Amino acid sequence: MAGGLRLRGLRKSYGDLEVLRGVDLDVEPGEVVCVIGPSGSGKSTLLRCVNHLEVLDGGFVQVDDVLVGYEPRDGKLYESSEREVAQARLRMGMVFQQFNLFSHLTALRNVTLGPTKVLKRDPGEVDREARALLDRVGLAAHADKLPAQLSGGQQQRVAIARAMAMKPAVMLFDEPTSALDPELVGEVLTVMRGLAEQGMTMVVVTHEIGFAHDVADTVVFMDDGVVVESGPAHQVLTTPTSERTAGFLAHVRRHPQKENDHAQ
Ligand SMILES: Nc1ncnc2c1ncn2[C@@H]1O[C@H](COP(=O)(O)OP(=O)(O)OP(=O)(O)O)[C@@H](O)[C@H]1O
Ligand SMILES: [Mg+2]
Repeated sequence: MAGGLRLRGLRKSYGDLEVLRGVDLDVEPGEVVCVIGPSGSGKSTLLRCVNHLEVLDGGFVQVDDVLVGYEPRDGKLYESSEREVAQARLRMGMVFQQFNLFSHLTALRNVTLGPTKVLKRDPGEVDREARALLDRVGLAAHADKLPAQLSGGQQQRVAIARAMAMKPAVMLFDEPTSALDPELVGEVLTVMRGLAEQGMTMVVVTHEIGFAHDVADTVVFMDDGVVVESGPAHQVLTTPTSERTAGFLAHVRRHPQKENDHAQ
């Protein structure tokens, strides 16, 4: 699995709007990094650039020392072919706010689809692994249900199992609990905590400050397209060095739901 991530000087604009203005970030294998920051600060864009769902305007991303989306040749970077990008993307599992499950497929088939169709692996073996993954996220009894027959929290746990089935080096989460009813948030965070404890490299964009405090090794505070502050979770969340971080944390603690609403 391994899974180190290196981001250097990431830049991304939409028209005149500079959304990422030079982001550097290192994630060590097995490290859990939580990214926090106000709505519009560029957190989702950052994850989309890491995954090369967006083409960068500058900088680079490496997973386990391999460039994502670009080939170095004669000291320059050239954009990779779509096939190579797809290959690099396989190293990263992505879980979004909206679960994006295939609505006509059972939980089990959602999990087995990638490994069988994309990785062309043996269906029997994939089936066994998928059932084990569904068991791991507490859904062994729901393998044959369609997404519509599952709660939001259960659907999100299927989405996590689906991403894990591809054996990614890194898992990227973009506010995985903010579309959930409050009583369903805990079950998803518990599954994510389990992945972290088993040594998965994770980058988690979240407004769940309690989760960040308990599970993250490192907390990164982003504002206005830059990393304002980054450090050990406890330190950043309790004694931030930047006033912007302190102001944001005070705001989130006063209005946790409001921040979630912004995130839609
Ligand atoms: N495809 C796009 N085209 C144009 N502007 C975009 C696009 N995607 C994002 N933006 C803009 O980029 C800025 C950063 O958006 P982004 O979604 O990365 O923020 P965020 O930190 O994830 O916010 P939130 O907490 O609300 O999810 C916003 O101003 C947004 O409107
Ligand atoms: Mg976002």
